[in-house]
Amino acid sequence: MAKLNFFICLFGFWISFFDIQTECFHGHRLLKRHRALFIFGDSQFDPGNNNYFNTTSKADFWPYGETFFHYPTGRFSDGLLVPDFIAEYAKLPLIPPYLQPGDVDQFIFGANFASGGAGALKETRAGLVIDLKTQLGYFKNVSRLLRQKLGDEEAESLVSRAVYLFSIGGNDYLFPFETNSSIPCTFSVEQFVGQVMGNITQVVKEIYKVGGRKFGFPSLWPLECLPFTRRLELEGGKKDACFEPIKPYKEEHNKQLPKLLQKLQSDLKGFKYSFPDFHTLLKQLINHPSKYGFKEGKVACCGSGPYKGILSCGGKRDVAEYYLCDNVTEYLFFDSAHPTERANRLLAQLAWSGEPNITGPYNLKALFES
Ligand SMILES: *[C@@H]1O[C@H](CO)[C@@H](O)[C@H](O)[C@H]1NC(C)=O
Ligand SMILES: *[C@@H]1O[C@H](CO)[C@@H](O)[C@H](O)[C@H]1NC(C)=O
Ligand SMILES: *[C@@H]1O[C@H](CO)[C@@H](O)[C@H](O)[C@H]1NC(C)=O
Ligand SMILES: *[C@@H]1O[C@H](CO)[C@@H](O)[C@H](O)[C@H]1NC(C)=O
Ligand SMILES: *[C@@H]1O[C@H](CO)[C@@H](O)[C@H](O)[C@H]1NC(C)=O
Ligand SMILES: *[C@@H]1O[C@H](CO)[C@@H](O)[C@H](O)[C@H]1NC(C)=O
Repeated sequence: MAKLNFFICLFGFWISFFDIQTECFHGHRLLKRHRALFIFGDSQFDPGNNNYFNTTSKADFWPYGETFFHYPTGRFSDGLLVPDFIAEYAKLPLIPPYLQPGDVDQFIFGANFASGGAGALKETRAGLVIDLKTQLGYFKNVSRLLRQKLGDEEAESLVSRAVYLFSIGGNDYLFPFETNSSIPCTFSVEQFVGQVMGNITQVVKEIYKVGGRKFGFPSLWPLECLPFTRRLELEGGKKDACFEPIKPYKEEHNKQLPKLLQKLQSDLKGFKYSFPDFHTLLKQLINHPSKYGFKEGKVACCGSGPYKGILSCGGKRDVAEYYLCDNVTEYLFFDSAHPTERANRLLAQLAWSGEPNITGPYNLKALFES
């Protein structure tokens, strides 16, 4: 388990209690098998970057973190997130939030830039999140620091062998419905999703220019069937239904994204990608929770209102009252929009070692090993 992976640096070597992970870089060359993990995106992947600035989009209070860490870390879940499991499977330490104070040494294993609430578009929750372009700026700074620390050759090799994992887009489609903004009305679905794809493309191409080659882009979730969106539908008068208006955006996103990745693969020499199908697995988990050992796939463990669809978990947001379930392992969703650790583990296992029919040309294990 990641929690046992405790690293110490002795005589120039990183030692973990399980195996000699990788060497320190004070005058040493990185091992050939050294791999780093860089993470971009939203609350599904944010390990606590939002703790470090003034925003309403936070999860740094109990009961977030209750299962694994036993204290709130800023993760929007009871425990570990998908990138935490991926780091574990890749035999890396947990990748801390980029904004957590630390020195350049930590970046040898990668960095996590994800920010709860963020989207690919700069308008999405502007001022309350680190948008994708800013996350890219942070990554460029990290790559500069690595060059200074390791020298050009070693830094280039680290960057080109690293895996770049994204969770982005969901907030771009949710945000306009939350705020009644007019974006979806002034553009066609294809155009709006096209803008999201356009901005993702720019970021990927910039990372590629810096030297990144291996990208992981899970498909977008069934956004219409989260406890949060079910509640919206109920307010509109329909019982036990998913929130249909957002569905076309999700469908178009999941149609355009694999096409984009294929195009990037044919345009950019050495570009490799994984496209883990989170959508199908989550749909299964929502509709047939008991097949996977869950009792509840629709109602969240923590929150208030119908489906516990009000994002009040912890009582530190607009609504102070909330309910917390007794046994979180029975639930697919921890709060109104985020899965439990148990569900995150299933998603991570799929992404790590799924068959090509559910991960695209590479699964993450193959990307790390390539
Ligand atoms: C944080 O932002 C809110 C809303 O913009 C503002 O009222 C508050 O004073 C800010 N807090 C700090 C510590 O800057
Ligand atoms: C990158 O580093 C430069 C120089 O330290 C700094 O001025 C800039 O604000 C940083 N950019 C980001 C996005 O952090
Ligand atoms: C959005 O608009 C609808 C209809 O105009 C209105 O009933 C609803 O309260 C609005 N929601 C928000 C969050 O402003
Ligand atoms: C990126 O998003 C902005 C809106 O934030 C949009 O105006 C722009 O056209 C998009 N860029 C591309 C290349 O699609
Ligand atoms: C919690 O639920 C799981 C799955 O149903 C079950 O195996 C476990 O025994 C329960 N734990 C407690 C403390 O009830
Ligand atoms: C993927 O392929 C495996 C065997 O290679 C098969 O068992 C599984 O049902 C397939 N999954 C899907 C979603 O087609």
